[in-house]
Amino acid sequence: MTGGREAHFLSIAEWSRDSLERLLDLADAVKAGRSGADRPLGGRTLGMVFAKSSTRTRVSFEVGMYQLGGHALFLSSADIQLGRGETISDTARVLSRYLDAVMIRTFAQSDVVEFAETGSLPVINGLTDRYHPCQVMSDLMTVREEFGTLENLIVAWIGDGNNMANSWLNAAARFGFELRLASPEGYDPNADDLERASEATTVTLLREPLEAVRGAHVVTTDVWASMGQEEEAERRRRAFRGYCVDSDLMAVSDDAIFLHCLPAHRGEEVTDEVMDGPRSRVWDEAENRLHLQKALLLALMAD
Ligand code: CP
Ligand code: NVA
Repeated sequence: MTGGREAHFLSIAEWSRDSLERLLDLADAVKAGRSGADRPLGGRTLGMVFAKSSTRTRVSFEVGMYQLGGHALFLSSADIQLGRGETISDTARVLSRYLDAVMIRTFAQSDVVEFAETGSLPVINGLTDRYHPCQVMSDLMTVREEFGTLENLIVAWIGDGNNMANSWLNAAARFGFELRLASPEGYDPNADDLERASEATTVTLLREPLEAVRGAHVVTTDVWASMGQEEEAERRRRAFRGYCVDSDLMAVSDDAIFLHCLPAHRGEEVTDEVMDGPRSRVWDEAENRLHLQKALLLALMAD
């Protein structure tokens, strides 16, 4: 959709570049206190359905709704009837009668799509196995704060071709920055997201982290075993040896900033020295979840 209001936020790929840019601009305005201060979501309720753990997503959405004058409900999928087999579509129809929007963190992307198709309220993807769009938009906000632009930048993704990597691919496709991914064989990102991004911009899939980071402006990584992959953790630890972002790797970049969606496994995908070092922007990145998501709630819900 160009110019109009987007109905849902299920992936970066589904929004136009214009809409994404407006979201980033609004997030900057929210952070600067120029927008959202007059309780624009008074009387509105956001449902937050979680089938996986969360610190940042849960707290930033709840605080964001409160700061916008609305209310947020934490709904663990284990505690609502969804966890006992009530279908997604029945749940979506019922929650649509109570809530004004819903944020969902779950496993299958198809579940958030089904919720959006059968419910009659805006649906926000708060992380699936396939995507983490709120996080990558917050990351783009952090990158813009640092460089003033997303143009002519090289972003290096080190490690698993997971939900974060797929959302970075979608972001590169929309904004046109160069994206280099270094992943061990067998852990590539989603083939469709890779193909779409490769058609739109310069995307390189590598095996060697040094090659990806050389001359990069942003270096980013994530855990080796995502939520739901706990049983694979030991095998993954072996496969990802050599994919740790340390000071030697950062040194071949173009004085890059370091981003991590968090939680981090210090000593695995990143060293303490990089996490706590002068080029780390991880705490700003975490803070920006709040501002970006307030902008998203305004974009989807405000009158
Ligand atoms: N980055 C992120 O989504 O963190 P949580 O899992 O704590 O929500
Ligand atoms: N890739 C990680 C991100 C956590 C915010 C996961 O899905 O567990």
